Amino acid sequence: MNIPPPIAMLAELTHRCPLACPYCSNPINLARKERELDTGVWLDAFRQATDLGVLQLHLSGGEPASRRDLVELTGGAREAGLYCNLITSAIGLTERRLKELEDAGLDHIQLSLQGTDVEMADHVGGYDGGYKRKMQAAAWIAERGIPLTLNTVLHRRNLHQLPRAIEMAQEMGARRIEVAIVQFHGWALRNRNQLMPTKEQAEDASRIVAEARKRLKGKLVLDYVPADYHTDIPKRCMGGWGMTGLNIAPDGQVLPCHAAQTIPHLKFESIRDSRLADIWYKGEAFNAYRGDDWMQEPCKSCEFKKRDFGGCRCQAMAIAGDATATDPTCTKSPLNHLVRQRVDGDAGDAEQPFVYRSL
Ligand code: FES
Repeated sequence: MNIPPPIAMLAELTHRCPLACPYCSNPINLARKERELDTGVWLDAFRQATDLGVLQLHLSGGEPASRRDLVELTGGAREAGLYCNLITSAIGLTERRLKELEDAGLDHIQLSLQGTDVEMADHVGGYDGGYKRKMQAAAWIAERGIPLTLNTVLHRRNLHQLPRAIEMAQEMGARRIEVAIVQFHGWALRNRNQLMPTKEQAEDASRIVAEARKRLKGKLVLDYVPADYHTDIPKRCMGGWGMTGLNIAPDGQVLPCHAAQTIPHLKFESIRDSRLADIWYKGEAFNAYRGDDWMQEPCKSCEFKKRDFGGCRCQAMAIAGDATATDPTCTKSPLNHLVRQRVDGDAGDAEQPFVYRSL
């Protein structure tokens, strides 16, 4: 098959993070600092990414500002010719560091928002004082005029704050807001009952987003990730496995998506040992679910198989125990009743305390 080059690369610089969000998409087994790639290996990876055809680099984590070499990495990414986006909680970003990042060529910031007030934000982030520091950083970003996207992850406990989050994005001068209803991977899967939105919340969110898109046309772009347990159609995860993007984990493993390590039989190669282009084109894990030869029924004969690729492989693994199964969030899946049970029967322990992410 014809494999296109990747458009984007997510560099998970570290799993260290001052926040402890219960929906963190990092794996349950986090990589410790001793296993992180050093500056030189990252810089070489950025050059290899450019050679491979990558256009956009997303510096992420954990919290990327936990890396002391963040400014150097940003400069290296720009030198390699990559559009450089920083995905951050802003904890650890001082005014001076922001200036250094801008001078190094940072193009864009995505700032995470855990809640629209101190109580919610610090509760969800598991970090007292986090909201205040974030608001200070948002003011510095606005003063410097760095292009900003506000990233919100919404769930059962904070979905009522969506209208205020949209207002805040405008007040901060953001050009875009990403409204993502929590997706159940990593730590979110562990907190599924606590985070699962009600049907009413999921419907409200879609309505609020649709109205805001009309009202704010030309002023604010709204990207929306709906609650996939509440939809009939599975998500077109990663734009197709191994087709549009790749991730490098803090220890150097190169992954087709951030949750790929939850598929236990896949073998991942490391940027320490192999060239990025070889991993992308020839790697076993990258080729595992490309195309549609791997599909089972009902995907195999489904008219939508080229639209949604059977949904998310990691979700199929998590719910069906088989990464080649139809994503059970699809109503055509024989296991769709398991998703419906979760949605309808989740209220029992929704008030249980969060299991916070910890390293
Ligand atoms: Fe891995 Fe969807 S999160 S394919």
